[in-house]
Amino acid sequence: MNKNFYITTPIYYPSGKPHMGHAYSSIIADIFARFKRLEGYKVLFLTGTDEHGLKIQREAEKNNKNPQIFCDELSAKFKDLTKILNLSNDDFIRTTETRHYKSVEEIWNRLVKSGDIYLDKYSGWYSVSDEAYYDKDEIKEVNGKKISTISGSSVDWVEEESYFFRLSAWSEKLLKYYKDNNDFILPSSRRNEVINFVEKGLKDLSVSRTSFSWGIPVPKNKKHVIYVWLDALTNYISALNFPNTNDINYKKFWPADVHIIGKDILRFHAIYWPAFLLAAKIPLPKRVFGHGWILSDDKKMSKSLGNILDPIEIINNYGIDQLRYYLVKEVSLGNDGSISMENLKNCINNDLANNYGNLCQRVFSFIKKNCSNKIPKVKNLTDIDNKLLDQLKNNVPNLIKLMNNQDLNEFIKTVVSYSFDTNKYFNDSEPWSVKKKNPERMQTILFTTCEQIKNISILLNSIIPKSTNKVLETMNVKKDNISISQINSLECFDHNKELKELNILFNKIEDDN
Ligand code: MSP
Repeated sequence: MNKNFYITTPIYYPSGKPHMGHAYSSIIADIFARFKRLEGYKVLFLTGTDEHGLKIQREAEKNNKNPQIFCDELSAKFKDLTKILNLSNDDFIRTTETRHYKSVEEIWNRLVKSGDIYLDKYSGWYSVSDEAYYDKDEIKEVNGKKISTISGSSVDWVEEESYFFRLSAWSEKLLKYYKDNNDFILPSSRRNEVINFVEKGLKDLSVSRTSFSWGIPVPKNKKHVIYVWLDALTNYISALNFPNTNDINYKKFWPADVHIIGKDILRFHAIYWPAFLLAAKIPLPKRVFGHGWILSDDKKMSKSLGNILDPIEIINNYGIDQLRYYLVKEVSLGNDGSISMENLKNCINNDLANNYGNLCQRVFSFIKKNCSNKIPKVKNLTDIDNKLLDQLKNNVPNLIKLMNNQDLNEFIKTVVSYSFDTNKYFNDSEPWSVKKKNPERMQTILFTTCEQIKNISILLNSIIPKSTNKVLETMNVKKDNISISQINSLECFDHNKELKELNILFNKIEDDN
């Protein structure tokens, strides 16, 4: 069985400081990457920055900076964000690196060689903010300004010499690929969107620009720079050292298992990217997952509405696990979802502080007082204990399946319900009332609860790694034992070792906070 797993985030435009949308794509990808590692896979998790194109060139000019220096500064902020978000990425690619240039030039040369590229003239609409071409039926006029009906961003009329990619020639092959690979585009609503679009017929795509210079020059015609999306998409293979297809990473990790992206960049990933790869005779990725849009108080975040939520500010105030948990618990992954400070506070209090956090704290302090601070060893589990433990253990294959289908919301809902059930079990079993007349029973209750806490912590480890690692460390669970396969083992505790001290995991948020 292939135990390698390659997952990517979009590479971000370093045109401003990172915002919640960037944090969201990255956190989701990180959760899947970590979960696969817990499953025993060798994972390659890639993120990075998309540094060429007119959008970046203009932003650099606005700031009176040379574009390379501008990118160096802002890309560093995105790299910092990977630490702040506690991402477990294995690599961070920048499209201004030499390894990336080599890869893009090779793709270009292959497309030329296969006859998929020709020189002509482009005239049409272009959005610098989206770095995208739009057809005339995708444009409308609002207050005398032309905007794209797809993204709402403003467009300019462009006329210039351009190389074209024969995208139109690939429609049938793409449709066949979608049909043969049902799970290539997820969720399925997005898949239908793409199929409808391709079925209408594709037009050839302009893949070079001459009116600015900040990009990778077209080999053998330096007047042109390569279209930023052809450049950017190639990052997914340049990080594996393509064109060296004998490279160990390329062999192990290509084709990618999943590209995590936002729905706004689906067309690029589900149509252009596979078409480029087909033409360049490179295998296609296995999946593109398009998540929804994060809305702030039901509205799209924008500077003019003043409703942009800054992930770093939230993390400084509430904590990283709190933000990670909230984003994936409250927003249904494939759909748009609204977030608000009010809901964030409720979620932290109800799910984290009162439920999982409180369970750990109560149980560990009870063990400290009544069992010399050691997890008791027990032999006789009753039906009630087994029922609680088995409900979780027997569902592990299903939980793995949910994660592998990117059904994060159902996964969390189920695991949180186990935490509620365990709290209830602890309350109903009343270890405090049996400690004198039946200490053995008390020990069994404590062991069962600890076993559940360990298993819930392993399951939540990819979502809230910092806090669950603290809990597992408190229980002296070895790093090697933090894996999905350990959920079915009752042998992971050292009963002779005292529990470590656990500080409050999640502070409750008061109303005026
Ligand atoms: N550079 C391109 C991606 C190239 S990938 C080969 C790009 N960059 S971006 O910085 O504009 O956006 C990156 C990601 O952030 C996209 O997946 C986008 O969907 C996501 N988000 C930006 N704002 C968002 C929200 N408000 N909500 C959720 N995600 C959104 O596009």
